[in-house]
Amino acid sequence: MSLIENIIRPEVRALSAYHVPDAGGFVKLDAMENPYVLPETLREELGRRLSDVALNRYPVPSYSQLKVKICTTQGVPAGFDVILGNGSDELITIVSVACAKPGAKVLAPTPGFVMYAMSAKFAGMEFVGVPLKPDFTLDKAAMLAAIKEHKPAITYLAYPNNPTGNLFDADDMVDILRAAGDSGVVIVDEAYQPFAQATFMPRLAEFPNLVVMRTVSKLGLAGIRLGYMSCSSALLVEFDKVRPPYNVNVLTQAAAEFVLDHVDVLDAQATSLRWERTKLIADLAALPGVEVFPSAANFLLIRVKNPKISADGVFSALLDRKVLIKNVGKMHPLLENCLRVTVSTPEENRIFLDAMKASLDS
Ligand SMILES: Cc1ncc(COP(=O)(O)O)c(C=O)c1O
Repeated sequence: MSLIENIIRPEVRALSAYHVPDAGGFVKLDAMENPYVLPETLREELGRRLSDVALNRYPVPSYSQLKVKICTTQGVPAGFDVILGNGSDELITIVSVACAKPGAKVLAPTPGFVMYAMSAKFAGMEFVGVPLKPDFTLDKAAMLAAIKEHKPAITYLAYPNNPTGNLFDADDMVDILRAAGDSGVVIVDEAYQPFAQATFMPRLAEFPNLVVMRTVSKLGLAGIRLGYMSCSSALLVEFDKVRPPYNVNVLTQAAAEFVLDHVDVLDAQATSLRWERTKLIADLAALPGVEVFPSAANFLLIRVKNPKISADGVFSALLDRKVLIKNVGKMHPLLENCLRVTVSTPEENRIFLDAMKASLDS
């Protein structure tokens, strides 16, 4: 056996690394980033703030100041605290590692965010995917049956879901929370909450097994890598034991504290992106052979139903025109011929629409 076969776990060898395409020179509409930057005056002030940060010191690991700012500006209910992560990706890893008892399972509707399954596998847990209905709503009966059969330690519900963009029915989610009960946590992943304006955060006290996970990435701070998560203090204490002590660096901490003092700027950007979303849905729906699915997020899922060209063809034609979106058609059978595009500025949305029109005509 080779060194690799001797030391690397077979399930890791069987995985492919998360692929991030090089987007240099492209109109980048593949990763649900906020296209807007901070206004000049705030950027200058932030620069001054960051220049004062003591880079020679480790972060203070309690992160209490940042946590208080998050709790007060992001609607965390009184009496609840948060745990911070290097992006919500790291929080997903933390929960997986904390819950990975031998034989423990992770459950999520599919298609869903790929890191749920990947992180489960990294932690040595089995991932159980429960297909959504063809209209991308939750198959509640199948979810409840799977919870009964597998007793998952972790169930993920992305609210709204990626890559489909829709919000699941809140009453169905409550039934899932109740069914999981004492045998598993339900992580409501609200990465796209600024665009959905729907949240389970105020309901934390109702469900001892509810974990609400958020990120600042889609709000406009993807580059600083900061996620946060709230749940009962009993659970939080356990998850915090698994968190590396200095997982959020001092620059991220200082930048987040500064921007959260000006969160109205990011909220206004989210509001204009919601307007742009409405407009883009209408413009795409008017194109021949394009189906647009309802979205509560800052991206749209579309299906190409054009006899002249497939979604793969449209994706390549857009690449030729230097527009990068995400081809999700091979991710799951329910996503056949589907593409996902980030809602962006009026200019970038126009470039994307023109490229779409040209590729459908070609
Ligand atoms: C549903 C969902 N959760 C979490 C994440 C990861 O967010 P972060 O940038 O905080 O790691 C994403 C990123 O696309 C996502 O779609």
